[in-house]
This record gives sequence, structure tokens and C-alpha cells, in this order.
Amino acid sequence: MKRKDARARPAHRRDSVREIPCDSVRDDDDRSIVAMSSSNAASRRVGAVAGHVRPTARGGDDSTTTTTGTTTTRTNAKGVGLMDWMFGATGIGGTRASFTVAVLGAAGGIGQTLSCFVKSNPRVGELRLYDVAPVVRGVAVDVSHVNTRAKVRGYVGEEELDACLRGCDLVIVPAGVPRKPGMSRDDLFGVNAGIVRALCEAIARTCPNALVNIISNPVNSTVPIAAEVFKRRGAYDARKLMGVTHLDVMRARTFVSEAKGFADPTIVDVPVIGGHAGATILPLLSQTTPRCSFTAREAEALTKRIQNGGTEVVEAKGGAGSATLSMAAAAAEFADACLRGLSGESGIWACAYVESSATSAPFFATKVLLGKNGVERVAGIGAVSAYEKQSLERMLPELKASIKKGYDFARS
Ligand code: LMR
Repeated sequence: MKRKDARARPAHRRDSVREIPCDSVRDDDDRSIVAMSSSNAASRRVGAVAGHVRPTARGGDDSTTTTTGTTTTRTNAKGVGLMDWMFGATGIGGTRASFTVAVLGAAGGIGQTLSCFVKSNPRVGELRLYDVAPVVRGVAVDVSHVNTRAKVRGYVGEEELDACLRGCDLVIVPAGVPRKPGMSRDDLFGVNAGIVRALCEAIARTCPNALVNIISNPVNSTVPIAAEVFKRRGAYDARKLMGVTHLDVMRARTFVSEAKGFADPTIVDVPVIGGHAGATILPLLSQTTPRCSFTAREAEALTKRIQNGGTEVVEAKGGAGSATLSMAAAAAEFADACLRGLSGESGIWACAYVESSATSAPFFATKVLLGKNGVERVAGIGAVSAYEKQSLERMLPELKASIKKGYDFARS
């Protein structure tokens, strides 16, 4: 049985998805969704759940849900999520938009995996891999064997940076050093701030119209550094600069699913606002969809775990670095959302750290609408719980200090 495209429904209906108690979408219930698949009520219910697939959570997705026998599969006509574009289409021979994407820092732990993901994206026609480490040429050869249409090339060192960036539509920046146990993201500032500044100088002179996704930590400061560099070069367009915070959203979906017994985290959406470090990461659990309730203790424990997700990985790796694989997956999914927006798809919402007037901090992560020019709209914070309101007030001084640190560095 095929479901209608969620976005074909009027906006007021898409946004008023029926509340579903957490208990009713646990494992058992997933089976009951299939069993009831012939009834209209079940249809509405599956559609409501599928309508929360990320990253277009606000606007619903392009899912068609097919129920056969005992399995329900969701195929996204336009491919909203990672798995959809990774394995659903090779992009060979199609008439899709074809973008040129650069990964700066492509030989690193995030960069290599991210490059492989981006190579698999059917919207990419050309993939440029840059690093100061010469092994990036080998990484490019390796990635080029993936049988998708994107042409891949490696670029080494400063003298090849401009050639790498020329004509790019999207530049993703994971370059820099990772943290070790006991370090905060801010402890990376001394090394990574200079790297981001130099790379942004090159972006400003070579591809000033490209969208820029900054992953290098501390994101709370490196994004303001990038903004300042672009402003000084007359190349700043707030719509094109985004700090990647999507991993916080992925973690929130995963941990909430574990806590609430959702069998499939892709049906869960939790906006994560603020920044990308410790207490500045604020999951809005009160806005979780499908609608859930959390006890105060649960909300606090989940919030802390999401805030400490990066540290959890750093400690688990015991000195061998920070999150690379999940970060690459998150960055690839966010990059895909950017490319979808660029190609004119509508309703592409994702959380990102951008210039914002949502709070008194000049940069702030909320959901943003991605379109042909990058960030077309910055969503507000919406209704929050008392705990979230208090956490928001508490985080703002730290976030503003990190932003100022970035500005001061870029202006020095
Ligand atoms: C993360 O969230 O995993 C990254 O920002 C890396 C880190 O240092 O935590």
C-alpha cells in the first residue's frame, strides 16, 4: 500500500501531526502498525511517524511507505536521509543537479569517512579532497573507486588550495586536531583557529559564493572566525555559513530512542539548539516527535548524555581521538541537506549553528530552512520547558564568550 507524499498535504495538516504516546510506538506497536496496515487510522499513523524523518522534520518528508506482508519499508522519492541516498541511488545517468564539493582536511579521521560518504551522494558531480598531508592523493584514489558518478581529485598543500576551491558549490571543513581525554573543545582553539582562518581566507578569495559547513572545533568560535574573515574580504553572506551541529541531533535521536524504546531512531526528531560544546548543546526534549513525555530526572539525564556525547567518544577511544565515524555520517547527511536546498528542493529543515537573532548571542543553532541560497530562514526556539528555559539562560554567557573569542582572534 502506498502512502501519499507527506508534503502533498496542506501545511497546516503537516504541522499538526497527531500526538502519539511514547508507549504506543514501541517495538510491539511497530508490529501492530503493520498488522493494522489496511485501516485508515493506521495509514494516518504511519504517515505521521514517517513525517518526522530528518532532516526535513518541520516540513515532513517525501516518504512513500510500502507495507508488504510483515515488513514496512520507507522509500524516499527524493531521498531525505543518509541511507536513502547512500544506498538508494547511484546517480549514474540521471539528470540530477551536479554539484562540486570540497572537503578540507580530507586525510583526517572525519575527512576520509566523510569523503567516502560524499562520493556516494548522487548529487555530487565533482569531489575535491584537500589536505596538508600528501596521503590525501591516495585517499582520493581510494575513494574514486566507489562506483558513483562523482569525479574525485586530491590536492596537497597551500599551493594547491585555490585550485581545489575554484568553482565549488559547497566546502566542508573538518580540518584540525581532535581532542584527547580531559580536554574541552575550547582547548583546541590554539591550533584549530589558525587553520580555519587560513582556509577561510582561501574560500573568500576563490569561491566566495560557496556554502561553507564548518566542523572544526571549537565550532562555537570557529564559525565566528570564518564570518569575520569573510566580512573583512567582502565575501560574507550569512546565509552561506553554517556550523555543523547535526551530530548532536543524531545523538539526541539515538539516546531518546534507547530511553523510550523506539525501534527506529529515524522516526524520532529532537531539535538541538545553542552551540556545539558542553552546556551550550541544548536538546529540546519537550519538542520531541513523536510526542513523548519525560520525567524531570529523565530529561536531565538525557540532556547531560547528549551534551557529553562527544566526550563519551573521546574517553572510549582512550587518547586515539574523538568522534570520526558518527561525525562523518552527520556531516554527510547535513551536506546532503544543503545540496538538496541548493538544487531547489523545498522544505529542507535541519539544525545548524548560524548567524541568528533567536537570542542575544549573534550565532546560535536552531532549525534552519535550507534553500537555493543556503539558509533561507532561521526558526525560533519555540515553546520550551522550565528546565530548558533555565538551561538556555545559563548557556548564553558561555556561548557569547566563545563567539567573542573567535571575533577577537580573527580581528587580531
Ligand atoms: C563531537 O561532538 O563528537 C565532536 O565535536 C568532537 C569532540 O571533540 O567532541
